[in-house]
Amino acid sequence: MTHSIQPIGDRAFHLMTDSSSVVLEVGDGGHLELLWFGDPLRLDCATQLDGIRRPRGPLPGCTVDAGTMTDPPTSLHRQPMAFATAGKGDYRRPGLVIDGQGVLDLTCRGHRIIGGGVPDEVLPSADPEPDSQTLEVILADDLVGVTVTVRWTTFPAAGVFTVRTTVSNTGPESWRLLDVASVLIDLPDRGFDVITLDGWWGSEAHITRTSLGHQRLVNSSATGSSSTEHNPGTLLMESGAGEDHGRGYACNLLYSGSHATSYEGGSAGLVRMVSGINPEGFGWCLDPGADFVTPEAVLSYTASGTNGIARAMHRFVNASVVPRHWRHRERPIVLNNWEGTYLDFDLESLTEIAQGAAWLGAETFVLDDGWFGHRRDDETSGIGDWWANTEKLPGGLEALIARVQDLGLEFGLWVEPESVSQDSDLYRAHPEWAIHQPGRAPSLGRHQLLLDLTRDEVRDHLVLTMGRLLDDHPISFIKWDMNRLISDAHEAGFHHRYVLGLYDVLARVFGPRPHVLLESCSSGGNRFDLGMLTFGPQIWASDCTDAFERIAIQRGVGMLYPASTISAHVSAAPNHLTGRAASLDFRFAVSAPYVLGIELDPRQLSQEDMEVLRDRVAWYKTQRAVTQFGEHRWPDGAGDQHEQVVAIAGDRALAWIYARFPRRGVTPRPLRVPGTTGPVVLQQRFGRSPSTVQLPDGALAQGLPMPLLADGQALIFEIELGMGRSAMAARDGAEECI
Ligand code: GLA
Repeated sequence: MTHSIQPIGDRAFHLMTDSSSVVLEVGDGGHLELLWFGDPLRLDCATQLDGIRRPRGPLPGCTVDAGTMTDPPTSLHRQPMAFATAGKGDYRRPGLVIDGQGVLDLTCRGHRIIGGGVPDEVLPSADPEPDSQTLEVILADDLVGVTVTVRWTTFPAAGVFTVRTTVSNTGPESWRLLDVASVLIDLPDRGFDVITLDGWWGSEAHITRTSLGHQRLVNSSATGSSSTEHNPGTLLMESGAGEDHGRGYACNLLYSGSHATSYEGGSAGLVRMVSGINPEGFGWCLDPGADFVTPEAVLSYTASGTNGIARAMHRFVNASVVPRHWRHRERPIVLNNWEGTYLDFDLESLTEIAQGAAWLGAETFVLDDGWFGHRRDDETSGIGDWWANTEKLPGGLEALIARVQDLGLEFGLWVEPESVSQDSDLYRAHPEWAIHQPGRAPSLGRHQLLLDLTRDEVRDHLVLTMGRLLDDHPISFIKWDMNRLISDAHEAGFHHRYVLGLYDVLARVFGPRPHVLLESCSSGGNRFDLGMLTFGPQIWASDCTDAFERIAIQRGVGMLYPASTISAHVSAAPNHLTGRAASLDFRFAVSAPYVLGIELDPRQLSQEDMEVLRDRVAWYKTQRAVTQFGEHRWPDGAGDQHEQVVAIAGDRALAWIYARFPRRGVTPRPLRVPGTTGPVVLQQRFGRSPSTVQLPDGALAQGLPMPLLADGQALIFEIELGMGRSAMAARDGAEECI
């Protein structure tokens, strides 16, 4: 094992990845400071720290000295901190707030360096790499009786650090935690933009770029879910940074509940980043001796634009976040019947659809909503009753599964276990299990209530019911949905307790059944987050399957989540949600760089479309290692009227170019694969003029001219990089992606 954390002198620590360095130091006053977060450093001795330490005092104007003994005097407000609190002269957003305590002064009491990571028992934790180490720094305020343990773990190969905080009550009295950050750091202000992934149902993860200046910008969700409105992942990029150039950082959370990440510019030339559980609606009573553990935050630094961030985050998620069984394991092509039938199906129609799925080359047939209890066609009944509706499916699931398996397909099933319809046997038996406030009627969402997952008996019921469903049937794929936001949670901290309950259920259902592929879904992308990805390797990115809209959604989530996690289906035209029509080739080309699936009724396709789709599915299977696990990048400046996606795996690459509402006469940007040298063979697939060309050395690195494309037209290129990929790998200092 190589050490990725090196003590420098007796109070500084150098945390290293292959592409970045962090230097933490316990300052003169005992506070934890961040001296460096950026390009890899070679640090040999403590005297070299003088060069990267921020000069201290004398202090101009109206300030407050930190402590009483520092020389020269230091204002905490102007120091780059790695954890900070209020009351001693730092007026930026604090990392810890305890009810009734206006002053908290956390100073270092010790540290240790541990091999690997420090996983939590309930909250998701990233799996360490072989060379991962963890630095644990213990900070305390004896007057209040609080200890804060900050843990930084290195992920050297991915180029990522994770950080999490544990708060302990070491005093004799109980107190109430109002806010605690997973991570707090101050970075030198390089003139940053904050990139957030914002949207709504059907328009998730649109990229928003906001210049930060001296303000505080908060990206948050208060809905109880990581949310379609503001994904928990954010980027902080130099304002001139593009896809392939410029420095910046990313922060994400292994968490699926209400979150908040703030960036705060200020006069000190520092930007404070604070990320963790959303303090709005939060509150946690901590008795003497009790601990509170925060979700794990994920940080990455890049000197090479948003693609540099994507590369690090993608590697990290593929290697350390998704369940072990599914790491680098190719995902099946599913046909899901939802948009093909909605709730209107029976055994015969499903059998015909499954026959179509098999003919098209799909590998798993997924039966969506409507198969259970006394579910009617109006979505008002049945949720909670997870047994087959034998009016629709005589012979139960068994009969359908037998037919599906006879066709050579695996079987997958939709469930929404966290919800309950008022018109269900479960609700009639246990109305008290739904989240509600005594004396007030609970609000419905999509005609249903949510089960109170903070209750032991509710979780036990779900574990038993889902376990039985999986053990009694050969189900290889579960689409776990959740179609409403939390309401009527009248106790502070409920959202967090709900998420802990959900994680407990997921761990108990899927932990013993690792072979079942869990695709999580929450009205599409309402829980597209790293927490859910620790239980299931892919997520239904959006209920909007319109190819034009999906380009933007997939581009957004693709910034922080790898292609292997993004479930993307080819659906019918015109699109059911937007009414827009797109050619089958365009719809396929938009889904193909990710986890391809099909979401339509094959009986409605013409024979010609059936043949085209079958041909494309067969091709996808030959390219799956590249589409699902290649290194995906988006060439500099290609977005807007045209979009490009490139995926590289070893010496093979694929490129997709889409025309999305282009102005007349405007051609796409040249196709570029930066860093490629040596002979390259470029084959254009499908469309009207498939062709194969040998490229001169260096041409692809600079860019190939592209033809004029009509709106809704796409090009797909298969690229043999020959020696070129080795040159790229040498440049990146990177190992192969697959
Ligand atoms: C949600 C999901 C859809 C589908 C429906 C079924 O909206 O996002 O994909 O499963 O529920 O009701």
